[in-house]
Amino acid sequence: MERLQKILAQAGIASRRGAEEMIRQGRVKVNGTVVTNMGCKIDPQQDQVSFDNAPIRLEEKLYILLNKPAGYVTTLSDPQGRPIVSDLLPGISSRLFPVGRLDLDTEGALLMTNDGQLGNYVLHPSYEVNKTYEATVRGLPSPATLRRLAAGIRLEGGMTYPAQLRILKQFKDRTRVEIIIHEGKKRQVRKMFQAVGHPVLGLKRTAYGRLRLGNLASGKYRILTKNDLKKLFTGKIPFTIKNIPA
Ligand code: URA
Repeated sequence: MERLQKILAQAGIASRRGAEEMIRQGRVKVNGTVVTNMGCKIDPQQDQVSFDNAPIRLEEKLYILLNKPAGYVTTLSDPQGRPIVSDLLPGISSRLFPVGRLDLDTEGALLMTNDGQLGNYVLHPSYEVNKTYEATVRGLPSPATLRRLAAGIRLEGGMTYPAQLRILKQFKDRTRVEIIIHEGKKRQVRKMFQAVGHPVLGLKRTAYGRLRLGNLASGKYRILTKNDLKKLFTGKIPFTIKNIPA
């Protein structure tokens, strides 16, 4: 049970002050009855709340990490009828949207949530949330090539930000390279390696910040805890993580 104004603020309806004003004006109903008492506590799972008689959805925030297989599109619907990532979330009734996209043929870590604010933080360049990828590329990139990519190269959208790269494994005709970037331009990793003559043959995102995919099987997801979410950010967490299991 939480105070009504707090729940309204958490649901993004208004600021705490704004919600108090809405309540004071008699515009908020709980289970069909106008509530003007600031001490009113409600259960967001059970109670029906409306503002000016329009029902308000007080959904709990949910954050999941999915190991996306190749062949699934990172959209909420696909006009071409291809498999979509939400097909992999049976039993999740909330409408979750992907935080950043992965190409059809890219696999790995995909954060999904109904918390738009968290999504913005993760994607906004100023928070510099690193995304780690394992790219299998054709040939063996030389140390000089890796240094060029690390320093930033020119793509059609401008220079890339500095990146961290290291070779994970060398095969006869290809190499597995780890690359860490905090930007998310469309097909960025593929374009970066293409630009230096080492096209990507396979791509997997393995982490957002320090939140790693670990041994989550392909096509499976897990619900994230507060501790998991803290791993997304370095230094100060830019928001209060509420309403989710510790
Ligand atoms: N970079 C790419 O090229 N593709 C992705 O899916 C993600 C990052």
